[in-house]
Amino acid sequence: MSKTYNIAVVPGDGTGPEVVAEGVKVLKAAAAKAGFKVELHYLDFGGERYLKTGETLPEGAVDEMKQYDAIYLGAIGHPDVKPGILEKGILLTLRFKLDQYINLRPVKLYPGIDCPIKGKGPEHIDFVVVRENTEGLYAGAGGVLKKGTPDEVAIQESINTRKGVERCIRYAFEYCKKRAKNKKLTLCGKTNVLTFAFDLWERAFYEVAGEYPDITPDYAHVDAITMWFVKNPEWFDVIVTDNMFGDIITDLGAIIQGGMGIAAGGNINPEGVSMFEPIGGSAPKYKGKNMINPLAAICAAGIMLDHLGEEQSGREIEQAVMKITAKHLKSLAAGQMGMTTTEVGDLAARYLTEL
Ligand code: IPM
Ligand code: MN
Repeated sequence: MSKTYNIAVVPGDGTGPEVVAEGVKVLKAAAAKAGFKVELHYLDFGGERYLKTGETLPEGAVDEMKQYDAIYLGAIGHPDVKPGILEKGILLTLRFKLDQYINLRPVKLYPGIDCPIKGKGPEHIDFVVVRENTEGLYAGAGGVLKKGTPDEVAIQESINTRKGVERCIRYAFEYCKKRAKNKKLTLCGKTNVLTFAFDLWERAFYEVAGEYPDITPDYAHVDAITMWFVKNPEWFDVIVTDNMFGDIITDLGAIIQGGMGIAAGGNINPEGVSMFEPIGGSAPKYKGKNMINPLAAICAAGIMLDHLGEEQSGREIEQAVMKITAKHLKSLAAGQMGMTTTEVGDLAARYLTEL
């Protein structure tokens, strides 16, 4: 009997539904080719629902999510909803409550894509950031006193638990071990200033490194790493870092791989339910225009299949995407691709099938 994956699909806001539709096309093509099944369960979480019901995630939603094999997310963010409500109420709540403690973000420059760094090509830009996804400054620890008065105090603390840090570091070592590059894992921190948090990170990192003699442990301060990403991106293989630094450096990573139209990632709970998403956001001004680039969502579907154990399909989706970037797209930017959203999706499904 062929395997069936039950996948929750949250198209979300803005161009989310359009790019998810193309990702689903490719997912179905991959399933047909490899002989597994996907059952899709659509959920309407997002800005529209919030504006109608005042609810971000309905009661029981998180528990319902636990029964799926994976979650495929489009984009969350609506121009009529105050920033923070949907991000915290949907995206961060799912990451935290499903204990998706890894945010995995590959940074790879595909052939044919214009790199904003002079003299760098696909042979230079191919690394993966493993971002801690449930702690740090995102944990919501802290508070305000005397809000709105001249004496206002705002405290936002970074929470780093030994368990949380170590499990993230272990994941990064394991990931690095499996990856066919140069077996180097870089800890990105700020040990010269954040001497409590990154002391814990550094000790855990070098302790775990002792168990992986084949991997070279490496360290870089976060400010320096932003410089190296631009000057010498070829130095990196896998990078592990905390939640906030990971958020920042992966936007820089996205732009050196060509931009938000191609960057995708996974929120991973290795023991539970994981969620895969293009990281570009809802781009409301392009909604409904068939102009947005669906490749990031298609790549997210590939990362999802790889995570589910369909590695061959994951690789083939990436190959199909690379064929498109190499041969067809004028640009990754919405409206400048030289193709519509649906045409890109159709072509990706066709190339995948023909591979
Ligand atoms: C990301 C986003 C989110 C984050 C926002 C939307 C909460 O920037 O996935 O990187 O900060 O993690
Ligand atoms: Mn971000």
